[in-house]
Amino acid sequence: MGLRDRLDDDHLSEQGSDRGGSVSHWRQRLLTEINLDDLAMLSMQQRRIRLEKVVGHILSREGPVLSDRERSAMIRRVVDEALGLGVLEPLLADDSVTEIMVNGPDNVYVERRGRVERIDTTFASETQLLQTIDRIVAQVNRRVDESSPMVDARLPSGERVNVIIPPLSLSGPIVTIRRFPKPFTIAQLAAKGSLDEATGSLLAALVRARFNVIIAGGTGSGKTTFLNALSAFAPNHERIVTIEDSAELQLQQEHVIRLESRPPNMEGAGQVSIRDLVRNSLRMRPDRIIVGEVRGAETLDMLQAMNTGHDGSLATVHANSADDAVYRLLTLASMSEVKIPFEAIQDQINAAVDVIVHLSRHADGSRRVSEVGLVASKRREEFRLEPVLRFEAQPLDAHGVVNGEFHRFPLPPHIAQRIINAGEAIPPAFLAPSTARPSHTALGATP
Ligand SMILES: Nc1ncnc2c1ncn2[C@@H]1O[C@H](COP(=O)(O)OP(=O)(O)OP(=O)(O)O)[C@@H](O)[C@H]1O
Ligand SMILES: [Mg+2]
Repeated sequence: MGLRDRLDDDHLSEQGSDRGGSVSHWRQRLLTEINLDDLAMLSMQQRRIRLEKVVGHILSREGPVLSDRERSAMIRRVVDEALGLGVLEPLLADDSVTEIMVNGPDNVYVERRGRVERIDTTFASETQLLQTIDRIVAQVNRRVDESSPMVDARLPSGERVNVIIPPLSLSGPIVTIRRFPKPFTIAQLAAKGSLDEATGSLLAALVRARFNVIIAGGTGSGKTTFLNALSAFAPNHERIVTIEDSAELQLQQEHVIRLESRPPNMEGAGQVSIRDLVRNSLRMRPDRIIVGEVRGAETLDMLQAMNTGHDGSLATVHANSADDAVYRLLTLASMSEVKIPFEAIQDQINAAVDVIVHLSRHADGSRRVSEVGLVASKRREEFRLEPVLRFEAQPLDAHGVVNGEFHRFPLPPHIAQRIINAGEAIPPAFLAPSTARPSHTALGATP
């Protein structure tokens, strides 16, 4: 007996241990009675009601005698299995799980508190995994097969899903589910040690004073979470347009317009890119534009927006350090088909970007602000960042925890002045020792 068959059998007996027979058997019976494709036009709720009815009939006709409770439990499990995500459902219901990674039917990993661990859950077979994948992508009217082996989707509850199958994946069908990131405030992030309070206050002042801020970091370093937290400092009366590939931001302000890009449909048509949305947003009279992540040519449009009165804009970019982030912006902006000399883009970045906040994910799973830098270069000069904050990590301690210290640097006078002119206070930790008096007198702000 092959591994696959054995797994199938295990799965059946596990599922069949309850009274009422095996869930897989009844699901199979259900699928011979009804074609799920015929229900494609119905809402999830309507599909569920329809299927519950059919399973009820089948059980009455063919099933053993069950109590009402056993019967409704069985109906629910069969319909879950037919419609829902089967073995993934309990993981999705577990709040401590932040990421679910399925590497083929036999390998399921989850991330909890920043650490990745392999768990016992397995799929009965590759076929069952592929059926689950079909259900996920059908919800966004996509299809996964050899001709389209790579798909991004979203669960109705908001989770972001990426699917990649053979032949592109040599490790079987792969599903990566990112839980909807839990919104954190800057104060909560500071309490977790992701940044120090003084830096939190400074960043809040910078956002309110309409500095353009770029949040940088590696995959899963907490960029979106940080962007969400920082965006809370945009005043409530402003008209804010958010632009994302898959909507994750959860702004609390009243006047927020959320835009989400759209991948091409099965025929390859109808794509609306982040770039299209950035351009469109300029015609929507935004006070601020928030771009979830810049990955390509839209970077140029975003820089132009920042330079043409839409200051106070925020975005994230994938980068390895604060320095790297400015060069990434340069590379991304030059991907535009508009051929602009390199130095002109450099000029745009120097003029547009005020602050880079770099985040790191440490060996112990914690995420931290590892660097804050001000773009100090002007015009067509080579990029130069002025440090504001640096986290110096120490080696892992005996408990496998990363500790370290935040080092703060005084702000250059003209930046301090700009913050004060906007009516914001500067945390003393960022004032030069000689000027560490109440900020308005120290820096001679005139009302
Ligand atoms: N400061 C933090 N402390 C602890 N957990 C965090 C922190 N920031 C983010 N997380 C968690 O880390 C995971 C990844 O966060 P997030 O989606 O914000 O990262 P990202 O850098 O935007 O990822 P991606 O590169 O995939 O877009 C989420 O589960 C989130 O809740
Ligand atoms: Mg993100």
